[in-house]
Amino acid sequence: MSRFESLPASHNKKQFADANDELDPVRSTEPNNREEKMKNVTAVILAAGMGSRMRSDVPKVLHRIASRTMLERIMSNLKRSGVEDILAVVGYKAERIENLFREQLRFVRQPELLGSGDALAHAVDFMNSRENSVLVTCGDTPLISPATFRKIVKTHFRDNASCVLLTARVDDPSSYGRILRDKNGNIARIIEEKDLIGAEKKINEINVGTYCFHKSEIVKYIREIEMNEKKKEFYLTDIVDILRKKGKKVISVSCGKKEEHIGVNSRKELAEVNALVYREKAEELMSSGVTIVDPDTAYIDDSASIGRDTIIFPNTVIESGVRVGKGCRIGPFARLREGTVLRDNVEIGNFVEICRSEIGKSSRVKHHTYLGDAVVGKDVNVGAGTITANYDGKEKNRTIIGDGVFLGVGSILIAPIKVGSGAVIGAGSVVTRNKNVGKGKVVAGVPAKEIIKKGRRHE
Ligand code: UD1
Ligand code: MG
Repeated sequence: MSRFESLPASHNKKQFADANDELDPVRSTEPNNREEKMKNVTAVILAAGMGSRMRSDVPKVLHRIASRTMLERIMSNLKRSGVEDILAVVGYKAERIENLFREQLRFVRQPELLGSGDALAHAVDFMNSRENSVLVTCGDTPLISPATFRKIVKTHFRDNASCVLLTARVDDPSSYGRILRDKNGNIARIIEEKDLIGAEKKINEINVGTYCFHKSEIVKYIREIEMNEKKKEFYLTDIVDILRKKGKKVISVSCGKKEEHIGVNSRKELAEVNALVYREKAEELMSSGVTIVDPDTAYIDDSASIGRDTIIFPNTVIESGVRVGKGCRIGPFARLREGTVLRDNVEIGNFVEICRSEIGKSSRVKHHTYLGDAVVGKDVNVGAGTITANYDGKEKNRTIIGDGVFLGVGSILIAPIKVGSGAVIGAGSVVTRNKNVGKGKVVAGVPAKEIIKKGRRHE
């Protein structure tokens, strides 16, 4: 089958010819500043593969590194690099990915999984007509930094190169495509692992799978990729050979960091990258003044922020975007989930889960507690075993707790509920929904009722 036959019906020769007429010749005018360069690019994330080596019913790009999916990481780094238009090619369980990222990405479907070359060919019609260049990256290389994306694009514009490839020299190149250079050191082509012969196996410069092209040349030449007979796939990597043979400029830039190149194809690689991200985050936090008692069991997403002199005890999970103030104590065995903010000097103890909640300065939540969708004031004591019942089976409801409140052990707060500042909830109480507790009141029991001290009139 030729490359052309695998394209959707809309991809007829006429269409290609028109596109070429419109886009050729390649524009060499270099945008003059960094932001402009990145804005001149459509990014394409190849995310249609099923990731067969993962042995999973979940599309590979939805597997998580720390607490964020690979696709989310790549998208976020592309956005941070300055790229505004991002297109994802999806195929295996496409709908699942589209539903999650509908607001943030544009999508194109690859109907049959015929390889990375076929995936990019399907993206051609959906590339933004305003942009002249295309930055292609794989959905399973989650560590490529915004700076590296910028470096590739900058080199592409500066050298007016038809293709800039990201490469890395690694100790173990197995499972990656290798970069074959001619005797002058110029890139000749990329050879996939399965097609390596003899001494080629020793080449330790690998293809990371990220490329920047002139869009007009991709439109023109992508259909010249032929099916690899061994794998019955169209390899995007063959475009290098095609461009070289046409006398086009193909150059490389290398990865900024040692592990940036890693592609996640198996659960083992997923675990390795996970460990790496957690380790790096722990090191970054320690160097900024956070104590991490056991960096091997600090599971902190790299998007979280933690203030100095906070102590993280072992087996603590801190998820995406969580913000922790200064001088806090967290864990052991605590989990802070997305949407959580801890102000300074907060204590979160063992077996405590906090989700989408804000905890005020110097409050203490020390044992066996769940707080979800809550706003907790300052100097609040949350007794052991306190639970916010935030979900009524249909909706998540809020719990608002004022400053200086004392929640006795085993309190259950059924949301929506407000507890005024200085109030006291007796041990074992169930405060039922909408039965707000006024400032300074004392309530107890199941359901909780106000306790009026002798000699004190009910106000
Ligand atoms: C690919 C490269 C290899 C490079 C490595 C870097 C090719 C042919 N090989 O190999 O040179 O060293 O990445 O990690 O590109 N995909 C689709 N549709 C498909 C097939 C794949 O969208 O039909 C997507 C996948 O979802 C994935 C990416 O393309 O994100 C790469 O595919 P994968 O199967 O992981 O290729 P590798 O063997 O890792
Ligand atoms: Mg891969």
